[in-house]
Amino acid sequence: MTAQHPMRGDVAVLVPAAGLGTRLGPGAPKALRELGGVSLLSHTVRRLGSAGPVGCVVVAAPVGQADAVRAALVADVPAGLDLRVVEGGETRQDSVACALAAVPPGYPIILVHDAARALAPPDLVERVAAAVRDGHDAVIPVLPVVDTIKRVDESGHVSATIDRSTLRAVQTPQGFRREVLEAAHRSAEDSLTDDAGLVERIGVRVFCVPGAEAAMKITRPADLATAERLLRASSSDACGAESGSNA
Ligand code: CTP
Ligand code: MG
Repeated sequence: MTAQHPMRGDVAVLVPAAGLGTRLGPGAPKALRELGGVSLLSHTVRRLGSAGPVGCVVVAAPVGQADAVRAALVADVPAGLDLRVVEGGETRQDSVACALAAVPPGYPIILVHDAARALAPPDLVERVAAAVRDGHDAVIPVLPVVDTIKRVDESGHVSATIDRSTLRAVQTPQGFRREVLEAAHRSAEDSLTDDAGLVERIGVRVFCVPGAEAAMKITRPADLATAERLLRASSSDACGAESGSNA
């Protein structure tokens, strides 16, 4: 619990949402595109708001759109959740740094979660936060790799087949002790695609917890179709559970 938000917890979540969504094709910035009639960012913030330990969410919005994003998210924020919206930067890492600078005191655990992983379930958020609270400095959710992975040289020939049993696909939310994430961003020299990578570079060990299929990253048009299927499946599960409990 924190002094600012006695009803909520010790976790702040940074949501990089400032990307253009180039691989999704022409249109609005990716976080503002819709899935089932609701923006990806709204899906993300609603699920974060349902995770009990989350007391603060800082969104890094597309450049020039912070005010519009703040207004659009008001209805998605449960009572007691401190929502802040800042402008993002040129790279994902810049956007995370902008959001990190806006976290108020009182949150010893910080998660970083892509707006593009709009359907990540609240229990995944809680699992990552719990592992940090249990003493891990840095925590990432992972899934086994299902494809065979090969290294290919510049001429297009295979140079090696990698042992897949030691590989993992990495998702978000990634969780950190606040001091660790701040130190990693202070020492960052070049741009990486995830925050755990920065933390590894300052010599901190990163702990893995099981990820979730629903935390898939929406990157290409086919991913939107997959996410729509997952969304329909989760709402029919919820209806089933509700009618079950009423029976
Ligand atoms: N992101 C961000 N600021 C940037 C670039 C990316 O906040 N300058 C965010 C995206 O909004 C997304 C997350 O980082 O939630 C993961 O990035 P990615 O999936 O690559 O999204 P985009 O950069 O929007 O997509 P693309 O690379 O296809 O343009
Ligand atoms: Mg990108």
